Amino acid sequence: MKTRKVYIKTFGCQMNEHDSERMLGIFCSKGFFEVEEPKDADVIVFNTCAIRQKAEHKFFSSLGRVKHLKRKNPNLKIIVAGCIAQLRGEKIFNFAPYVDYVIGPDNINYLTEILNGKISNKVLISENPEIAKINLPVLRKNLVKAWVNIIYGCNNFCSYCIVPYTRGRERSRPSESIINEIKILAEQGYKEVTLLGQNVNSYRDGDIDFPELLKRINEIEGIERIRFITSHPKDLSKKLINTMMSCEKICEHIHLPLQAGSDKILKLMNRKYTYEEYLEKIMWLRQLIPNISITSDIIVGFPQETDEDFNKTIDALKEIQFDGIFAFKFSSRPGTAAAKLDGHLPEEVKAFRLAEVLKLQDEITEIKNKFLEGSIQEILIEGKDEEGFTIGRTRTNKVVKIIKDLAPGKIIKVKIIKGHRHSLEGEII
Ligand code: 5AD
Ligand code: SF4
Repeated sequence: MKTRKVYIKTFGCQMNEHDSERMLGIFCSKGFFEVEEPKDADVIVFNTCAIRQKAEHKFFSSLGRVKHLKRKNPNLKIIVAGCIAQLRGEKIFNFAPYVDYVIGPDNINYLTEILNGKISNKVLISENPEIAKINLPVLRKNLVKAWVNIIYGCNNFCSYCIVPYTRGRERSRPSESIINEIKILAEQGYKEVTLLGQNVNSYRDGDIDFPELLKRINEIEGIERIRFITSHPKDLSKKLINTMMSCEKICEHIHLPLQAGSDKILKLMNRKYTYEEYLEKIMWLRQLIPNISITSDIIVGFPQETDEDFNKTIDALKEIQFDGIFAFKFSSRPGTAAAKLDGHLPEEVKAFRLAEVLKLQDEITEIKNKFLEGSIQEILIEGKDEEGFTIGRTRTNKVVKIIKDLAPGKIIKVKIIKGHRHSLEGEII
């Protein structure tokens, strides 16, 4: 292949965003540069998401839109990567015979061979436990904060979730290579790292568990802030909370997906905790880290969710008072246990419940943000928004807008002068 321009479109979560940074790293090491429009590219990559049907639809319509480019440029290569690649494999060719390669998340290292023209296989989706050990080049666009993979895959099999099928079994990355990567990031001037994994709490490399890994990262000079996503409530230990408390760089924020407030639904979801057990962990967190912000994921309209079950989710939101949530309508995914359950709910019921949840949480978030008015917060400057405001983020992961030009990477103290529904306004003190 003698092509030089690549277009990458990423769907889905931070894990995918980071995989795109790694794919871009490989492309750049082969002399490619990135372009903004598919029509300008010699290689088009779709890094896809399968978590909900909507994400899958979005990808297939984007894929349909580049078909004509292949007619204009027969040398154009189209690569489908990510979770839909893993899930659908060669069936993608039935829908779109103009696709050239299908590469699952564990096989992105083979991009090098593809670009060298050394691979004839068009579908690369086999198990590749080695991916956790391979250090791929990464091209990061953000110069202040960086994502760092620590654990791949998931063993939990929550009944609604496609991830264990698309990203395979849990594999922890060797701690030495994580630490080395973060040391290099610190030397390059990065201030913040976010450790990535489907369930970071399960991290283990010999004697090094997740709290121990955090302690070691906390010692890396130059890194000022450490974050991590995502934590599974069943694995959130007192040891981790104590570590969060004792390591000054670990930010006071945790994303802890609750999913539902009803024990019946939690059981059907195979989440392995009850609402009371979840609440107890929230209590530990708030007792030991008083200013902690807690965010969550909620699914509404899971099969067999009655009004009474749904009201338990509403009650949970009122009781816990999350700082923010991501809420989703249940989407049936092929091959998952939930897809086979009886009692799937009509779309209107799901839509109604989603609107209820979002409305309630908006009110809670707004009250919480108003409560911060007058407080002093430390923010890390990340850049500017579309309106030209300088944007920073508190340690609790809240966005603060300020009217002053400041270089990304600076950490400053601001006074919050206004709390809005989705952001805060601050002024430098
Ligand atoms: N339907 C709706 N939401 C889902 N999630 C995962 N699978 C599904 C599904 N089938 C949500 C969960 C998870 C988040 C990343 O996406 O809330 O925490
Ligand atoms: Fe999916 Fe559950 Fe694993 Fe999260 S923990 S990726 S929701 S199976």
